[in-house]
Amino acid sequence: MTLQQNREFEEFSNDVAMCLASKNKYLSPKYLYDKVGSQLFEQICIQPEYYLTRTEASILSKCAPVISNLLGNNIHIIELGSGSSSKTAILLSHFSSQKKRIYYFPIDISSTILAESAQRLKSQFPKASIVGIASDYNMGIDRAAAECKVAEKEEEKKKNNNDDISYTKLVLFLGSSIGNFELIEARSLLRSVRQRLNASDFLLVGFDLQKDESVLNAAYNDKAGITAKFNLNLLARINRELGGNFELEKFEHYAFYNHDQHRMEMHLISKIDQQLYIGALGKTFSLKKGESIHTENSYKYSLNQIDALAEDCGFGIEKNFTDKKRWFNLALLSPS
Ligand code: AVJ
Repeated sequence: MTLQQNREFEEFSNDVAMCLASKNKYLSPKYLYDKVGSQLFEQICIQPEYYLTRTEASILSKCAPVISNLLGNNIHIIELGSGSSSKTAILLSHFSSQKKRIYYFPIDISSTILAESAQRLKSQFPKASIVGIASDYNMGIDRAAAECKVAEKEEEKKKNNNDDISYTKLVLFLGSSIGNFELIEARSLLRSVRQRLNASDFLLVGFDLQKDESVLNAAYNDKAGITAKFNLNLLARINRELGGNFELEKFEHYAFYNHDQHRMEMHLISKIDQQLYIGALGKTFSLKKGESIHTENSYKYSLNQIDALAEDCGFGIEKNFTDKKRWFNLALLSPS
């Protein structure tokens, strides 16, 4: 095990131990994304009920030229939670057709997915510099900012007198991943991004908007059962990595819209009274029939809330890009 893998193992086992020992059992949604989970998530994105990815991709195709025109000729793109990077490819192909020099720093928690997509993008955009960063968001931002500095220094060395080596940073936070955060966490993440930006840089954030509840419930309870598999994979992951003895048939995927909180919630509900043994912890835990392990919150925003959040974090809204149904919004933010 590398040092980082070791740290990740420690963190995962500590969080699972804490979760299972507490009365309200909650696990961070970041643990849904091991290799299998990330692949299942890609499957979710193409389910007919899961409108988010399709809607965001169509907005991106439309807004790419507008964004491109706001940026300089050298772009440092940092993406939080890049996954397959398939939506980012829409932007990259536009930027490269405009002859922009592209540096792309995708950050993702799954090193496998990251390596695969970096490989694919390198062949698709041979002129771009692509450096993947396998990390969670907070450490990833630091490392990406450091990589940007390294890239700038190298360009500086190679520079001819007339070369334009001014950079525009574009930070991407797509897919409504921000929806996984509590407001206070979302603020702290946006503020930490803000600290690393100059006045002419941008942050593009994808927000899923509040909408008819039936649309939301369908999206998180797809008929093919992929979201259920994605959720249950968390237990399979605990079995694989921590030597747990979860039997997946003894749990049920449960996803519903929580009105008061404006969020989708995902839970795993125990179908029976049961005991769980986790080898890596050497401990047994018990779950009552009907008891839940809360695995995800996915907040749905209003345009006013997006406005307020941006302002709170030192940003102004340069432009909101929304679809016709107003289901999804890409907020292009600039330092205020
Ligand atoms: C990746 C957090 C945006 O909340 O819609 C999909 C994850 N969970 N189906 C979302 C997810 C269940 C997704 N995000």
